[in-house]
Amino acid sequence: MTGPTPPTVTVDDRYEFFDDRDRLDYDAIVEFLTHHVYWGTWRSPTDIRAAIAGSWRVVGAVDTTTGELVAFARAISDGVTVAYLADVFVVPSARGHALGKKLVDQMIERGPGAHFRWLLHTADAHGLYKQFGFVEPDETVLERRRIRPIPPRP
Ligand SMILES: CC(C)(COP(=O)(O)OP(=O)(O)OC[C@H]1O[C@@H](n2cnc3c(N)ncnc32)[C@H](O)[C@@H]1OP(=O)(O)O)[C@@H](O)C(=O)NCCC(=O)NCCS
Repeated sequence: MTGPTPPTVTVDDRYEFFDDRDRLDYDAIVEFLTHHVYWGTWRSPTDIRAAIAGSWRVVGAVDTTTGELVAFARAISDGVTVAYLADVFVVPSARGHALGKKLVDQMIERGPGAHFRWLLHTADAHGLYKQFGFVEPDETVLERRRIRPIPPRP
């Protein structure tokens, strides 16, 4: 005889999204951003914590079955007109369950910045961001790229 059928676990039941920065697992974010992405590896753990502290909003997600942080994004903003999306990731073991879409949706559509203009830089996952209205910039967008080396840390 078999036991009771386990309840169906949907993505939304298993993964909980939040925007409370006190719930973030900073060690997990630092570990991911310093080892698993192409864009953040130069930043120290102190830099990453400072960048999060200086961000306007964060969104994280945990796997409620393990308590593990599985997704993160942060945004920089004046809180009124424009926001910049940064450090978006889903850990490899949780990819392919639409968590990336949910993460961006929570940050952009389900927060106080839904009416803002949004910007981001990324070499990857353009297909994800296009679903949220991101397009190639037009001729009104100017960017000052980093023209000075990053100063050495004290
Ligand atoms: C990009 C990332 C956040 C997507 O997470 P995910 O949970 O696997 O994504 P989802 O399951 O929600 O898929 C979202 C959609 O974007 C698409 N997508 C996902 N990764 C993509 C990529 N690298 N390039 C293009 N499209 C991508 C998916 O095909 C899917 O499209 P669909 O709706 O037509 O099926 C995740 O792969 C990741 O953390 N990658 C490493 C870090 C990174 O590249 N971050 C983005 C740059 S800031």
